[in-house]
Amino acid sequence: MTDSRIPTVRLGESGPEVGIQGLGCMGMSYAYGPSDAEESRATLERALELGVTLYDTADVYGDGENERFLAPFLEAHRDEVVIATKFGLVVPPDGPTGRIVRNDPPYIRQAVEASLKRLDVDVIDLYYMHRRDVNVPIEETVGVMADLVREGKVKHLGLSEVTAGELRAAHAVHPIAAVQSEWSLFSRDIEAHVVPAAAELGVALVPYSPLGRGFLTGSFVHAEKELTSDDFRRTVPRYRGENAAANAALLEPIRTVASAHGASLAQIALAWVQQRASVHGLPVVQIPGTRKPSRVEENVAATRIVLTEEELSLLEPIAGRVVGDRCPDMSLTSAGREQENRPARAAPVTARRAVPPSSPRTPRPSPAPPGGVLPDGGCVPRCPRGRGAGP
Ligand SMILES: NC(=O)c1ccc[n+]([C@@H]2O[C@H](COP(=O)([O-])OP(=O)(O)OC[C@H]3O[C@@H](n4cnc5c(N)ncnc54)[C@H](OP(=O)(O)O)[C@@H]3O)[C@@H](O)[C@H]2O)c1
Repeated sequence: MTDSRIPTVRLGESGPEVGIQGLGCMGMSYAYGPSDAEESRATLERALELGVTLYDTADVYGDGENERFLAPFLEAHRDEVVIATKFGLVVPPDGPTGRIVRNDPPYIRQAVEASLKRLDVDVIDLYYMHRRDVNVPIEETVGVMADLVREGKVKHLGLSEVTAGELRAAHAVHPIAAVQSEWSLFSRDIEAHVVPAAAELGVALVPYSPLGRGFLTGSFVHAEKELTSDDFRRTVPRYRGENAAANAALLEPIRTVASAHGASLAQIALAWVQQRASVHGLPVVQIPGTRKPSRVEENVAATRIVLTEEELSLLEPIAGRVVGDRCPDMSLTSAGREQENRPARAAPVTARRAVPPSSPRTPRPSPAPPGGVLPDGGCVPRCPRGRGAGP
């Protein structure tokens, strides 16, 4: 491929301008087995050369390790890179397995200071709520996030795995630049409610796991058999046991399209996600994760592939045939909560409490309690003992 840089797009109506493909950095320190730090650093640099400017991390990735890993890269390229990080998942003090979801203001204030310090930056470009704690009103969570913008600690706000209703309520408090949710040829649940709401509100979509956590590339089939014992994907229902074999058969149409383009499966999966931008009429900046410079080149080259209507039709039925959930605990996803709240969804969206941007937030008598402890195998990767998860 040539070294010409990829085009750019704005995240949300007043968000940052970024390359149309970003880079997921999680695997460099967390969740997907051993990593080579030197190779990961080369990946960060190669991505930037190709015009990738949105770099995605979270405080929970390696219990801060991933943010610390990115700090020298950010120092070298601060003006060129848009750094996105997240709060909301806490490693419990009594052990590295499971996660506590927290959205309460005192915790957010603590989390932002810790992320700023680990990233060694003055301001976070895009700050996401990683998971929703349903015990804290979203207006309160976004209210404190908006305060962080006013205080100059954060530039833009994002939300991960929120429902359409949660997005609308949040956006009424402060403009949301981006929603980050799983979106791929295997995971299309957000197209029902979240994507139309984002398009209507002028919010960008940042699809995570666009390669189905690697499964769509054909690099592994049976997670339990082929991946290291500390790999999070061993806990994902659709990549386990009989589900994995059934789902591997669904890759065939992707192979057919790939061979017509002389492309890899990964490239077709990414080209498909990118084309959802024109289907739904909103900016889409996916963040495939890789630790290899050659793969970043391959992934970025996918931005030049355009699938025909016929090819899109061939790929269309795949998601509907996938067996097994995308996440061990679906209540932590937008789709899971939309399912739980199905009768309530009939209520008009305007019934939700919306707080205008300039209004002071209603004070609550006491801080909301933190959310529940995720069961073993919660949606977000659990960092195994000994690989940076803390005690
Ligand atoms: N908001 C959330 O809750 C959430 C959840 C999960 C992830 N994320 C973010 O989204 C990013 C991406 O998601 P993800 O990493 O889970 O999944 P992904 O991007 O769907 O897949 C990553 C996997 O695919 C492999 N891969 C990448 N490019 C490839 C290629 N061209 N050929 C073959 N294999 C390839 C990677 O291996 P190598 O690394 O070895 O190349 C890695 O194992 C993460 O890094 C993270 O920043 C957010």
